[in-house]
Amino acid sequence: MYTFDYLDIRPLHKDDINVAFDLEIEGYPEDEAATYDILNYRHTEAPELNRGCFHGDELIGFVSATRYHEDTLKDEAMNMHIPNGESVCIHSVCVKESRRRQGVATHMLKEFINYVKHEEKDAHRILLICKSKLIPLYTRAGFIFKCKSNVVHGKETWYELEVQLKSRENCEELTYNGY
Ligand SMILES: CC(C)(COP(=O)(O)OP(=O)(O)OC[C@H]1O[C@@H](n2cnc3c(N)ncnc32)[C@H](O)[C@@H]1OP(=O)(O)O)[C@@H](O)C(=O)NCCC(=O)NCCS
Repeated sequence: MYTFDYLDIRPLHKDDINVAFDLEIEGYPEDEAATYDILNYRHTEAPELNRGCFHGDELIGFVSATRYHEDTLKDEAMNMHIPNGESVCIHSVCVKESRRRQGVATHMLKEFINYVKHEEKDAHRILLICKSKLIPLYTRAGFIFKCKSNVVHGKETWYELEVQLKSRENCEELTYNGY
């Protein structure tokens, strides 16, 4: 059981993107890592959905997401942000190598889900794709396995997981009532 009182999770600042990019390059294979420009784009378009985990002044991890208008995460979602799109799509979850296996990603994901639940009230769901070995990381944080993904990104097969924020019944009711 870890306590995380010493960690602060907050939106990344523009000046943090360089370090976030270093973590991205350290964490992902070359054919999966986002470019600096893509990280910067996601941050510029959706600053609140690009959240860093800090120990003091040091950025030790981050979650990077944007909004998308479809209910499944497609390739194009990784390079775009649709304001008010009904899906919040997580594109990167990254923890500094020396800080891994201490629960930091789980802590960041739980905080992220809470943030979206409380502050992005028009979002219907949170989506992400991952490789099979990381499915337990995400299900423990609160995601539910959805399906094999059609996304081709690097060499491996990807699986889609989600957190449902609004039940279909609620969505239909909202539409029916004309809101
Ligand atoms: C994947 C990553 C974010 C995990 O961060 P982390 O802070 O080490 O994760 P946690 O400590 O919260 O892990 C919680 C559980 O998830 C699972 N898990 C975490 N990393 C794992 C790995 N590399 N392989 C298999 N299971 C893993 C384990 O069940 C772990 O529990 P345990 O340590 O008690 O065995 C981190 O390794 C990373 O930044 N990797 C490079 C980028 C990446 O691949 N991101 C995921 C993209 S889908």
